[in-house]
Amino acid sequence: MSAKIKIGALISGGGTNLQAIIDSCESGKIDGEMVFVGTDNPEAKGLKRADRHNIPYFAVNYAQIIKQYKQNPENIILPDDFDLNEAIEKQNFFSPDYCYEKIKNFLLTRASAEARLLEKINLYDFDLLVLAGFMRNLTPYFIDKINTDHENPCIMNIHPALLPAFPGVDGYGDTFRYGCRVGGCTVHFIDYGEDSGPIIGQKSFYIEKNDTLDDVKIKGLEKEWELYPECIQLFAQNRLKTKKMSYTLDNNTFFNRTIVLIK
Ligand code: GAR
Repeated sequence: MSAKIKIGALISGGGTNLQAIIDSCESGKIDGEMVFVGTDNPEAKGLKRADRHNIPYFAVNYAQIIKQYKQNPENIILPDDFDLNEAIEKQNFFSPDYCYEKIKNFLLTRASAEARLLEKINLYDFDLLVLAGFMRNLTPYFIDKINTDHENPCIMNIHPALLPAFPGVDGYGDTFRYGCRVGGCTVHFIDYGEDSGPIIGQKSFYIEKNDTLDDVKIKGLEKEWELYPECIQLFAQNRLKTKKMSYTLDNNTFFNRTIVLIK
């Protein structure tokens, strides 16, 4: 049997995925233990789940930090080693021609919040950080602090759609409104873009003609609760390896992509 990994989680809301992960650790489906739960939202209901299982938890109030920045941008507290130009260069959320002020405001406020998250997170020793309904994009500043070994990324996310279709904040809503006959969820490693990192696992379900958006969400969440623990267990068993691939599509175009191999 493999040694237990230490898992930290970030959540924003109800935390049903968090619960599935906690239960899987407790039942032995995951060779792991939860060592902390953090949130950007002090009201997150999922914190009660951490509390019930005696898992330490903390909140960094992102909304307050963003509001204070809007009122007094010059008072923002940034970490000494944060380099705005480097973050702009690395990030993949916004295209280079997107409004500079908006990119700057986004990166400054998130890095300020992330520095506080890191202060709390760094109190714990952990092997894997799981985003379980964490509704904030992470900047390259934060990602590089956690992913110190680029060959072995250790931040996972679960997304409510079959990526690369429907990235963003409303995966099931986008799937339903598009009229898809199949929906699904994806677990992937985080990279510098929005829901664009290497895919670890996916599960799908049929959308029947009478299904409502609520039906789609329920079907999707049930798949998430199976998929996330399975992917975390692959990590715990050290069975995930990333590999950079290059394909020549036709005479002049190349497609480069980091993919996950499962050993
Ligand atoms: C889940 O559907 C998860 O896939 C989604 O938020 C929900 C959280 O539910 N995550 C995202 O959309 C991330 N961009 P939960 O709090 O009950 O686990």
